[in-house]
Amino acid sequence: MCPNLLMNGPPGAGKSMLASRLPSILPPLSPRELLEVSMVLSVAGKLADGALTDRRPFRAPHHSASMAALVGGGLQARPGEVSLAHHGVLFLDELPEFQPQALDALRQPMETGDVLISRANHRVVYPARFQLVAAMNPCRCGRATEPGFACRRQPNDRCMAQYQSRVSGPLLDRIDIAIDVPAVTAADLIRPAAGESSATVAARVGAARRLQATRFESLGFGHVMTNAACPVPVIEEVARPDNAGLALLRDAAEALRLTARAYHRVLKVARTLADLDEEAKVGRRHLAEALSYRARGEDLVQAA
Ligand SMILES: Nc1ncnc2c1ncn2[C@@H]1O[C@H](COP(=O)(O)OP(=O)(O)O)[C@@H](O)[C@H]1O
Ligand SMILES: [Mg+2]
Ligand SMILES: [Zn+2]
Repeated sequence: MCPNLLMNGPPGAGKSMLASRLPSILPPLSPRELLEVSMVLSVAGKLADGALTDRRPFRAPHHSASMAALVGGGLQARPGEVSLAHHGVLFLDELPEFQPQALDALRQPMETGDVLISRANHRVVYPARFQLVAAMNPCRCGRATEPGFACRRQPNDRCMAQYQSRVSGPLLDRIDIAIDVPAVTAADLIRPAAGESSATVAARVGAARRLQATRFESLGFGHVMTNAACPVPVIEEVARPDNAGLALLRDAAEALRLTARAYHRVLKVARTLADLDEEAKVGRRHLAEALSYRARGEDLVQAA
């Protein structure tokens, strides 16, 4: 549904806290989304747990989760976390600590929005259109970016590169927004809060979403609700940049060695940034911003 997000920062920076607040700025489920979510819950045998709500799912499996628990399967071919997070958020805290095969298995649902589970005698497809939100420390000991700190076993940059390489290039290629979350100091906490409330941000997100739903409706793609879910030929059309934007995109695609997938993901993020600005046309600054969010991911891809 939404762009995938990776937060990188030292322990205590507030990564887990930020992720847990994300549902508070997401719009409620539409009736059709609610129906799909309840169908997954019902197959998973989790509907009895409580009344249905229109809050978006937020799933945070532990990094020890098995592959079957994450993507589904087992004897009953039950839906996994990726399906329980359908239309919501799948939060993977301490991303490099997950089993590599489990992370690899996420790639297919991230691409298609559903997951195929094969059993000896049958195959089931479950929906799995989720927003991946992941968090990681800069290195195993977590302190490599601390001024004056020396990792115990090896130079800081080696410690970081080794830890980051546990997350594969193809997975990083699907991360749209990679941000550094710096350590919080006591002074930051004492200073009066300058931020906006969740309600203010939620209103802006809601407006941008309505704009997207209306756009795709008018183009005859009524089933597409967001830029993220938009088919490639359509996003090329609706996110066609102005000339300045096009020049920037051409340069960046070459300098960052963007894959075709990354290129289209940049267009989607840029289209969304333009929607947040209520701009009809994707401009150079929207592309620049979208590319800046990827840049670090691209660094990691090359380091990996
Ligand atoms: N920006 C912030 N404002 C207020 N408290 C914060 C902030 N960042 C972190 N904290 C506090 O620090 C604690 C640790 O944050 P946490 O999200 O667990 O960090 P991380 O996941 O990056 O290790 C939080 O529970 C919260 O109390
Ligand atoms: Mg944490
Ligand atoms: Zn370290």
